[in-house]
Amino acid sequence: MEKIIRKAVFPVAGLGTRFLPATKANPKEMLTVVDKPLIQYAAEEAVNAGIEELIFVTSSSKRAIEDHFDKNYELESELEKKGKTELLKIVQEVVPANVTCVYVRQPEALGLGHAVLCAKPVVGDEPFAVILADDLINCGSDCAGKSVLAQMISVYNNNHASILGVEEVPPQETDKYGIVDPGETDGRVSRINNIVEKPLPEVARSNLAVVGRYILTPAIFKHLEQIPRGAGGEIQLTDAIEKLLCDEQVLAYRFQGKRYDCGSKLGYLQATVEYALEHPELRDDFLAYLVSEFGERAREHLRATGD
Ligand code: G1P
Repeated sequence: MEKIIRKAVFPVAGLGTRFLPATKANPKEMLTVVDKPLIQYAAEEAVNAGIEELIFVTSSSKRAIEDHFDKNYELESELEKKGKTELLKIVQEVVPANVTCVYVRQPEALGLGHAVLCAKPVVGDEPFAVILADDLINCGSDCAGKSVLAQMISVYNNNHASILGVEEVPPQETDKYGIVDPGETDGRVSRINNIVEKPLPEVARSNLAVVGRYILTPAIFKHLEQIPRGAGGEIQLTDAIEKLLCDEQVLAYRFQGKRYDCGSKLGYLQATVEYALEHPELRDDFLAYLVSEFGERAREHLRATGD
């Protein structure tokens, strides 16, 4: 029987040290790009792809995420009283009524693989998605708004195999990612021969990196339970996928869309500027501001660097 993807796991227990002090008391997934926290973009992507159950793997310092997806009676009644119906709608629509949120604690910071394993009792015996909210992927204009996860679910439905969202990264940056060794390729889809977590550029088999989107069959859990700690002393999802490859086909999908690494300050700033330039309330004024304040500075910089 065909199994549909109904559940998505969001590992959100990480400390977010690259953004300290902003993330001292505030989860990194609650950092805002224009007017929405990163985790809401991730949840919307999942919902857009037909996911009905959002499973957040959290830790004690991440309560703001639970509050964000919960009902806020006080705020809603205030907005209602003041007749602020547009804002009320925005607040109420953070999670659609047919979607359930489940929270699971990751008691120790043992890595991404361990976080996914913590979700096993809730996922059960069905294929599921994993979304890393740090990797914000804009599928606005060039893919008719079809989210990356929706694209990957289409690939899953045609192949019934685990699917990894991948993109080419600069060859000198392979040591930041899970890197796949692609085999037979048909359009955007490649069979994977092998996958390695954060290989040095000298030994990387390609520059095709996994960027925070996975569809996995439940067979992954057996491997997550058995693998030893890998890179960084953590239980790596990549290592479990490598083992899964011995039993099952795993495919890499070169998604359509533009990805921002919002786990880095530069990527986060780029996302903020580009999302602001697409925001209906802001784009005109913001573009005018950028041109007037920075247009000349940018031209001077280009003249000086000879670009
Ligand atoms: C994690 C994964 C890595 C993947 C990356 C995507 O690494 O371990 O395989 O390529 O996410 O963003 P992290 O960024 O948590 O170090």
